[in-house]
Amino acid sequence: MDEFSLYVLDITMNSVRAGADKINIELIEDDEWLLFTVRDDGCGMTKEQLANLENPFFTTRTTRKVGLGIPFLKMLAEMTGGELSITSSHISESEEHGTVIFAKFGKNHIDFIPLGDMIGTLKTLIQGAPDIDFVYRHKTENGEVTLSCAEIREVLGDVSLGEPEILAWIGDYLLEQYEGLNNN
Ligand SMILES: Nc1ncnc2c1ncn2[C@@H]1O[C@H](COP(=O)(O)OP(=O)(O)OP(=O)(O)O)[C@@H](O)[C@H]1O
Ligand SMILES: [Mg+2]
Repeated sequence: MDEFSLYVLDITMNSVRAGADKINIELIEDDEWLLFTVRDDGCGMTKEQLANLENPFFTTRTTRKVGLGIPFLKMLAEMTGGELSITSSHISESEEHGTVIFAKFGKNHIDFIPLGDMIGTLKTLIQGAPDIDFVYRHKTENGEVTLSCAEIREVLGDVSLGEPEILAWIGDYLLEQYEGLNNN
């Protein structure tokens, strides 16, 4: 994968598959670092699952034998001088179940990759799971871009965020904010 947005898509799809109702995606940048966090209220992982995650041949997917999303993200983080950490509590162990994936990347490091199409990634996620409350925040030194699916739903009422016109509107809304960032 040569664009960071594809990693975001991959890691967030884990949260979708974990049955989350709410998923927070956050990117925070300064001169040197990109901090990436995905937080969900899905089923979480057991201690055994967490321990196995270090092992790239562990997956609960049944359609494919190897789970590589998290190991790949960890590799990219470490290659750029950063790190990855996971906190999770399983639904059988806690009422406050869910998972937080945090990763830090040296964004000026030669092994870091372009951000890619974050707007397309968000539209893909929303189209695939229009009932999830995605909250997105991308903060840079020039300002921030935000999106809350719950807020949009409140304004729009009884319509699916997966409808093509709504997705197009969401894309424009994000683009406008990103253009504002770039002009700062
Ligand atoms: N947010 C999450 N909530 C609950 N379980 C998770 C979450 N993220 C990862 N997992 C667990 O960790 C396993 C490994 O995740 P990883 O993304 O590395 O691989 P995968 O999703 O199985 O396969 P791939 O990402 O290659 O499609 C998953 O199969 C799942 O059991
Ligand atoms: Mg995955």
